Amino acid sequence: MSTPQNDLAQNDLAQNELPYRDLPYYEDVSPARGTTPPRAWYASSDAARLSLNGIWRFRLSPTATAEDDAFARREFDASRWAELPVPAHWVLHGHGAPAYTNTRYPFPVDPPHLPTENPTGDHRLVFDLPHGWEGGESLLRFDGVESCARVWLNGEELGTFKGSRLPHEFEVGRQLRPRGNVLAVRVHQWSSGTYLEDQDQWWLPGIFRDVTLLHRPEGAVRDFFVHASYDHTDGTGTLLVEADPGGRLTVPELGIDLATGEPATVRVEPWSAEVPRLYAAELATPGERVPLRIGFRTVAVEDGVLKVNGARVLFRGVNRHEFHPEHGRAVDAKTMRRDLLLMKQHNINAVRTSHYPPHPAFLDLCDELGMWVIDECDLETHGFAIVGWRGNPVDDARWTPALLDRASRMVERDKNHPSVVLWSLGNECGTGRGLGAMADLIRERDADRPLHYEGDPSCTDVDVHSRMYAGHAEVEQIGRRTESPWGDRELDERRRAMPFLLCEYAHAMGNGPGGLLEYQRLFETYERCQGGFVWEWIDHGIARRTVDGERWFAYGGDFGEELHDGNFVCDGLLFPDRTPSPGLIEYKKVIEPVRISGDGRAGTVRIANRFNFADLSGLSFLWYYEVQGVSVAHGELAVPPLGPGESTELKLPEPPAPERPGEALWTVRAVLADDTAWAGAGHEIAWAQLPAVPHVPAPPPACPAVLRKGEGNVLVLGRGAFDAATGALRYLDGFEVVAPRLDVWRAPTDNDEGAEWQPDERYGTIWRGLGLHRMQHRVVSVRDADGELVVRTRVAPASSDLALDTTFRWTADQRGRALRLDVSVVPEGDWWCPLPRLGVRLGVCGSLGLAEWYGGGPGEAYPDTRTASRIGRWTLPVDALQTPYVRPQENGARADVRWAELRREDGTGLRIEGDPAFWFTARRWTSEELDAAAHTTDLRPGPLVWINVDHGQHGIGSQSCGPGVLPQHRLAVAPASFSFAFSTVATRAGATWGDEDR
Ligand code: GAL
Repeated sequence: MSTPQNDLAQNDLAQNELPYRDLPYYEDVSPARGTTPPRAWYASSDAARLSLNGIWRFRLSPTATAEDDAFARREFDASRWAELPVPAHWVLHGHGAPAYTNTRYPFPVDPPHLPTENPTGDHRLVFDLPHGWEGGESLLRFDGVESCARVWLNGEELGTFKGSRLPHEFEVGRQLRPRGNVLAVRVHQWSSGTYLEDQDQWWLPGIFRDVTLLHRPEGAVRDFFVHASYDHTDGTGTLLVEADPGGRLTVPELGIDLATGEPATVRVEPWSAEVPRLYAAELATPGERVPLRIGFRTVAVEDGVLKVNGARVLFRGVNRHEFHPEHGRAVDAKTMRRDLLLMKQHNINAVRTSHYPPHPAFLDLCDELGMWVIDECDLETHGFAIVGWRGNPVDDARWTPALLDRASRMVERDKNHPSVVLWSLGNECGTGRGLGAMADLIRERDADRPLHYEGDPSCTDVDVHSRMYAGHAEVEQIGRRTESPWGDRELDERRRAMPFLLCEYAHAMGNGPGGLLEYQRLFETYERCQGGFVWEWIDHGIARRTVDGERWFAYGGDFGEELHDGNFVCDGLLFPDRTPSPGLIEYKKVIEPVRISGDGRAGTVRIANRFNFADLSGLSFLWYYEVQGVSVAHGELAVPPLGPGESTELKLPEPPAPERPGEALWTVRAVLADDTAWAGAGHEIAWAQLPAVPHVPAPPPACPAVLRKGEGNVLVLGRGAFDAATGALRYLDGFEVVAPRLDVWRAPTDNDEGAEWQPDERYGTIWRGLGLHRMQHRVVSVRDADGELVVRTRVAPASSDLALDTTFRWTADQRGRALRLDVSVVPEGDWWCPLPRLGVRLGVCGSLGLAEWYGGGPGEAYPDTRTASRIGRWTLPVDALQTPYVRPQENGARADVRWAELRREDGTGLRIEGDPAFWFTARRWTSEELDAAAHTTDLRPGPLVWINVDHGQHGIGSQSCGPGVLPQHRLAVAPASFSFAFSTVATRAGATWGDEDR
């Protein structure tokens, strides 16, 4: 079994790389002292093991040397120390505080030196061996300690290690005693290892993964390597298990009973993320029996395409950091499983373990439930970019042993997982010789998995071309294999022949990401483009409570950090409490592995299987015929069990004779036919709506009412009462309203604000600079135009000559209860940027707390995030229309709304119909209040419900880290006309105005 080379020959060092001397172990760049060679992780065996997780004693010191090592002695009295659970991060238990930076080191870039202030946690556990624990060898294993540990058992020092998210083991048989063992672990927050761990996340020190004592009987397994390949041409699998010491391998289901080191070839069912077929096996060496689960699969790059078992794979992926809002990176087994179930339920099939190997049990779950995994090494030196990459450890031979140690610990630990299909050298380390050395080491050890690393555009050391946040146009160019040259002709040609993936794209910070659908179309068009990994899975908001007990989520700066990167740490598809965000719902729809399309009027539907391996036999297809959002007939479609890539066209049944007129749609859904390991029968995989009868908006009044003067300074039109001086609507049918007026402002989203390194325009700043958040409304005229009320207003920001010349034309029908508003907007001046929104805002009494609408729902949607919005009739309380982005910002719009009602508990309320359909938003605070809030708890319901009915919204894009809004989703300033009809709803039981009138 290989081990990393821990020493380099003197002549490998360049002149400026003289060996570091006389450094304390936490600054010393060597990876470890006293640990045993890395090896495979396995969840269980018949050898005894003792979890040392639990309540330990804990003491925090401000520096690495504030305390001596007396605490390691058996007789030391730690009874007055604090108690701390292990695994945990001490900063999440009241000792010190978390801190967040994205790329910046929170201390001077002075490698390998560290600040004198180096929080140091002394951990101490007294434990007995369980009854029957035999003598002989034992290993003490740490699955994760951040960032550097020194370990003693019963007063004897075992050694030191770095490499926070990697396992480290010590031989401890000799030191163990039956009772009263004292395990002492000194953990330094900062170490030379920190220079290699500059990932974009909270700085969270501590023993954050399991600590375990493993008995090693004579002849126990030291290490083993399962090679299980699949030959798709003849359906056989070849199994070879190397083990130290040797033994036997049995796979009862396959009739295999073999000596280790001997191959066997038999017919098998292959493993894939879609059909994760595992075979139960057992490895028996003279001293230990280890249960295994074997998955047969072969990964290869062939003809410029990444294939598994001979088929091109398409990654519908996410980047997963380990995160829990209370426990940080100390993620328990239940949460890991929950993550995977949520991923599977949202059609996600791939995980990049950004940016370090996850808890080892997570990969067992990936094997079991089916997930393609890019396993990434615990390595990032991004903070060196800020100093021009000077001193970057990945290009400094003194650090190479540490890099090799990390590569080796990852590969050895995780090599037996079928789910791991690519190794990744790390993230954002620039370029350097150290990466080449890691690649060589990995290739030599495991030739069966391709290599990934994004940070070197030359792709020298890798087998796949990978980019992050490339825009759609660039991805298309890469898809055509015509991307710009990088420099070296040979390397350029080699790179163009590689498969391509976006290891990060679609930055899910706040509202968004937008533009997913357009990316997916590229992945489906170009064979080379094999999908991507959304950044990222979960917001890293840390749970906090107000004095009143209300929960909120903290981000950078909330712990008083001097240096921080704000809410850039909250950029996930899940909220910190693991509630799916609208971004995840959108992603699920965009990546659905079954495509349903067709022609609703002609009554045909096309079903395409977009799985790479699975057929459709596990799915049922249901159809619904819906008139005005109400299902009037439904049934099941007989769909043949199409194989991967196959499609078919089917006839829909005859639609039922219409009982009432109105828009009609077919909704076709693909759902699980039976329960699976990750979702129950009936769980929806894919859906589509096919228009059958189009929507016809209500016509203007046929028999118009005439404007008349009321009492005092009031104008009356139909059931509306207006201020005669300003033309502002005051009452509608007895309901007081805060007059509708033109509105262009939205609380900028993180994507509107944009990232400083992105070349696209940062509209958040531009809009604010133009004053769009403080538009002034000058009433130009209020006129009676042949019985209609016409109000002209010039809407414009201070200190600018840009304006929107706005005309409100109010009409009413003599018979109806509705007031119709026709809006026309004519821009004045040279508007060179899009608007945030264009529509009308009004306020109504806060008692109108229930919304019902017919249009897109149930969740929010914006022009480039609307794929998952489906037409239906939806009801939600106003409070539930809000999306609680960790940093409050524009949210909650519903797309394609034909009509919306806001009602009181007694059923009375207000109704708005649109022509054309509109974007509908209702909230208990204004956009300005939303804009001013930094956390959800800053938002306090006011006395009114504010309604925005918008003709247009600007798209969302992904500019908080990636490209901005695509041109087709920008809200360009142009003349616009749109209409609304306002009416009141008398009671719930009665027909609404719309129904009455049609
Ligand atoms: C990438 C980086 C990630 C994360 C992301 C932005 O550059 O690899 O770790 O920082 O940007 O959220």
